[in-house]
Amino acid sequence: MKIDGKDYRTIWLSEDGKGVDIIDQTRLPHHLEVVTLRTMQDAAAAISDMLVRGAPLIGATGAYGMALAMQEDASDRSLTAAHDVLVKTRPTAVNLKWALDRMGRVLADTPQANRRQAAYQEAARIADEDVEICSSIGEHGMALIESHWLRNGKSRPVNVLTHCNAGWLATVDWGTATAPIYKAVRKGIPVHVYVDETRPRNQGASLTAFELNREGIPHTVIVDNAGGHLMQHGMVDLCIVGTDRTTASGDVANKIGTYLKALAAHDNKVPFYVALPSSTIDWTMDDGVKEIPIETRSEREVTHITGLTRHGAVETVQLTPTGSAAVNYGFDVTPARLVTGLITERGVAKASRDGLIGLFPEFR
Ligand code: MRU
Repeated sequence: MKIDGKDYRTIWLSEDGKGVDIIDQTRLPHHLEVVTLRTMQDAAAAISDMLVRGAPLIGATGAYGMALAMQEDASDRSLTAAHDVLVKTRPTAVNLKWALDRMGRVLADTPQANRRQAAYQEAARIADEDVEICSSIGEHGMALIESHWLRNGKSRPVNVLTHCNAGWLATVDWGTATAPIYKAVRKGIPVHVYVDETRPRNQGASLTAFELNREGIPHTVIVDNAGGHLMQHGMVDLCIVGTDRTTASGDVANKIGTYLKALAAHDNKVPFYVALPSSTIDWTMDDGVKEIPIETRSEREVTHITGLTRHGAVETVQLTPTGSAAVNYGFDVTPARLVTGLITERGVAKASRDGLIGLFPEFR
């Protein structure tokens, strides 16, 4: 997608071919900075410190992290060590393990002398496939937006509510939840997006708003608690969110607060869709609430907030009284019964085992 007229992906091989470039998302929306990852440890830190984030991009960065490890040392020991370090960087997004396992399988079958080249090729394949997959998710999701446009007699823009950032910054390009929006707008369907700010790290206010702003898509940032009110007043046609891990039965882990939006949507009969690449499905799990590991992050992300001062500096300030405890669960689980449909690269599935198996029979 474009930033100020220039095409970007979120991750690419650096010009000298020895490093991997990323956009440092902790600096957005106020500064656009590209950082070069030179080592596997750089990639691990970029994931855990959230310079890159979003399930598909975490997976792609993990894959390139393995390639950086092979550049330093292509031995079996280095392969296992890189997998062990990278897989622990973030626990909820299953795309990370999926990408690392795939890299591990390919490299284990490759002679040591060829591993460096094979690792970069496979990481690039994972990144390119993610772009294709997100584009397909966009096509399938766009049809849902179009049906609302037609149902409303083309009388007004379709209002979509989204949570967190499941946009192109969370993937390699296009996004998952935002891909249908970008495709609909390209087809001439007017869309307006309500963007949940998404405390504590404000991925909605900082990243989704940044993307939509740069793509010229009408949007309004709302506080996390506003969604229910908007839905009660008919101001939301459909919700589309992303996911970090979806169980085989269709339970969905996504950024904390997603569950509350799904409850409000259910109560107000607003369709609630989840967009995901199949690499986000954890076929080994059934009960999301009981089984999906939920990341707990630093309480400082709750007690402090970062923003632009009137002097143009980016500063972090304390919000809560010194001494008040805080807790920071990164994700929650929305049970399948609250999900209208799962928008995948192969079509829209019912959020159920049968629904998913119908589209992905190879996992029967
Ligand atoms: O903590 P984050 O910013 O990595 O969380 C991201 C989300 O929850 C996204 O909605 C999810 O990864 C889907 S991204 C296409």
